[in-house]
Amino acid sequence: MTYAVLLPLMCLTVAAGQEHGGGTNRPASRADVEAGAKTFRSHCAVCHGPHGEGGRGPNLANGQFYHGSSDADLLENISKGIPSTEMPGLFYSADRIRQIIAYIRSLNSAAGVKPGGQPSEGAALVRSRGCLQCHRISGEGGRLGPDLTSIGQMRSPEYLRQSIVDPDADINPRFKTVSFRDDSGTRYQGFLMNEDTYTVQLLDTHEQLHSFAKAELSNYKIEDKSPMPSYKSTLSDAQLQDVVAYLSSLRPQGGRR
Ligand code: HEC
Ligand code: HEC
Repeated sequence: MTYAVLLPLMCLTVAAGQEHGGGTNRPASRADVEAGAKTFRSHCAVCHGPHGEGGRGPNLANGQFYHGSSDADLLENISKGIPSTEMPGLFYSADRIRQIIAYIRSLNSAAGVKPGGQPSEGAALVRSRGCLQCHRISGEGGRLGPDLTSIGQMRSPEYLRQSIVDPDADINPRFKTVSFRDDSGTRYQGFLMNEDTYTVQLLDTHEQLHSFAKAELSNYKIEDKSPMPSYKSTLSDAQLQDVVAYLSSLRPQGGRR
């Protein structure tokens, strides 16, 4: 008699234990997807777009993940973040992240439409319009702006388009400029490279590094404008599409898996 009662109970405990600890394939319920959608909207949409279509972070709706597509990969990338990228670690419980993954899996892949435009035309424009004065692509170009070698993996086409026509909309914090005067009244402007309690290092537009004692500076100001000019009136719509198509195509060769 006692055995008959005990056995089914033990089975239940084992099954529940697997579900939480081992993370085996418990099918996602509708409630999981809805709970995941809620977390996504409050914590992920700001970078990945309200429907996972991408923005400052990549599209998560088209089922293609450069950093790994299995549930285990997604769990790791979402909980720990992706080192040396802008993808932060969120440190949720595994269960909460599984809800987010269920939501991501539910997204419509149609959101991942490729931009129109000719990448080869875009590549030529990027060279002829002076983008490489400031940007590097595969080792060629300047350092006054972000390296664009694999920008297509990080940003959505819409975000890239906005970066080109409205650079002030979302300024990469590493490329904010500061301006100030030294004790002789000379005004300096450049990228803030480094600062400690007493000194500040600035990179000027000729890529020269300058060091200043903070005590000597006045009118210290962080600029809210991007150093990048807008190309809104100098690129036609078709040219802009070509440039975006080219930048979107810039991805690392052969993903991790
Ligand atoms: C501050 C902006 C930001 C936030 C907030 C953010 N991400 Fe990301 N995420 C990124 C960026 C940028 C990348 C691309 C990293 C790279 O490859 O350079 C990324 C990459 C990813 C990837 C890997 C994509 C791939 O192609 O392999 C996943 C999955 C992901 N994010 C999910 C999430 C989820 C889920 C949340 C919310 C819980 C979230 N992210 C919050 C910016 C963000
Ligand atoms: C005078 C230097 C300069 C020139 C010329 C320039 N850029 Fe930029 N660009 C920057 C800087 C600095 C940033 C980072 C600040 C910001 O986010 O606006 C940037 C940001 C960007 C970004 C966003 C990168 C990211 O990390 O999301 C893209 C895309 C871009 N530029 C494309 C272009 C293209 C295409 C051209 C030519 C048509 C161009 N830039 C010309 C300086 C420049």
